Amino acid sequence: METREFIRSLPKAELHLHIEGTLEPEMLVELARRNRVEIPFRSVEEVRAAYEFTELQDFLDIYFQGMNVLREAEDFEALTLAYMDRAAADGIVHVEIFFDPQGHTQRGIPFAVATNGILSGLAEGGRRHGISSRLILCFLRHLSEEDGFATFREAEPWFADGRIIGVGLDSTERGNPPAKFAGLFQAAHDAGLKLVAHAGEEGSAANVRDAVDILKLDRIDHGNAALDDPALVERLAAARMALTVCPLSNVKLCVVPDIAAHPLKRMLDAGLCATVNSDDPSYFGGYLGDNFMAVTEALGLTRAGLVTLARNSIEGSFLDAAQKAPHLARLDAVATSLRGA
Ligand code: ADE
Ligand code: ZN
Repeated sequence: METREFIRSLPKAELHLHIEGTLEPEMLVELARRNRVEIPFRSVEEVRAAYEFTELQDFLDIYFQGMNVLREAEDFEALTLAYMDRAAADGIVHVEIFFDPQGHTQRGIPFAVATNGILSGLAEGGRRHGISSRLILCFLRHLSEEDGFATFREAEPWFADGRIIGVGLDSTERGNPPAKFAGLFQAAHDAGLKLVAHAGEEGSAANVRDAVDILKLDRIDHGNAALDDPALVERLAAARMALTVCPLSNVKLCVVPDIAAHPLKRMLDAGLCATVNSDDPSYFGGYLGDNFMAVTEALGLTRAGLVTLARNSIEGSFLDAAQKAPHLARLDAVATSLRGA
């Protein structure tokens, strides 16, 4: 079996995906036209040409500009459904996706419009492809904790019945350390929500440690910088703390010099529960299958290594044990057949 087909055949979860980061240039241009939103681009090619970044802030500027075209619940639904179609093509069985409600409410789009549109897209994607899903609300860390609290209160009805299962922290890591959001994450913890945060993408190992300790995380988004602190690596490995690693994103934002220098294999060799994810695939050059292919080729991952990555994604998900079991059983069967081959 070809490598691409082997990767596709593995049951996998995507655990680090910003739905606004799946906005393809074609949809951006179409929604701008339909919603009469002024954009500084005259064609799909001009949009694509603007997707050039050398660091996180350059990307975020374009990312926030791009989401301006999302106005109606149907826009959010169409965006999400397009992602679910891509996920199915990559053999993904479960997704836990992020959204940035403050990026929408700040420009006058009601919280319910964005949230319910995304939830509709997830539900339809589930019916169409049999993919299970969970939604995680990310707070923008360049905004104040108080602003985050206002969003938290607005989201409470969606937390209460599980339509949103957890909270995360994204946007500019530099200058916005975990401690800035200690109170907000304590409130989320008290509400029984799952807790994740971006840490160690452009920040240091200390940022990863503080995120785990101060924010009481269930999972770390990126976490690359943890490798600079051997004691922290040992702790995270012993705790089976999942890291949602994003290889093509790391290359595009110059977190690593090139894909051959990516630390994913070192993470696995150190016993970390590393997973592969696509972050903002429309901006970073590929969806989940592309990320898997890139690291497989550049880092020489074996098929057993790929099974481990798929298993980490299921184990690191927020599914319960009964929901994980059939996916893990399928992976065990693949692992057994590899040993026999
Ligand atoms: N928002 C969307 N993608 C992000 C990333 N990779 N890092 C921080 N914030 C983000
Ligand atoms: Zn991210």
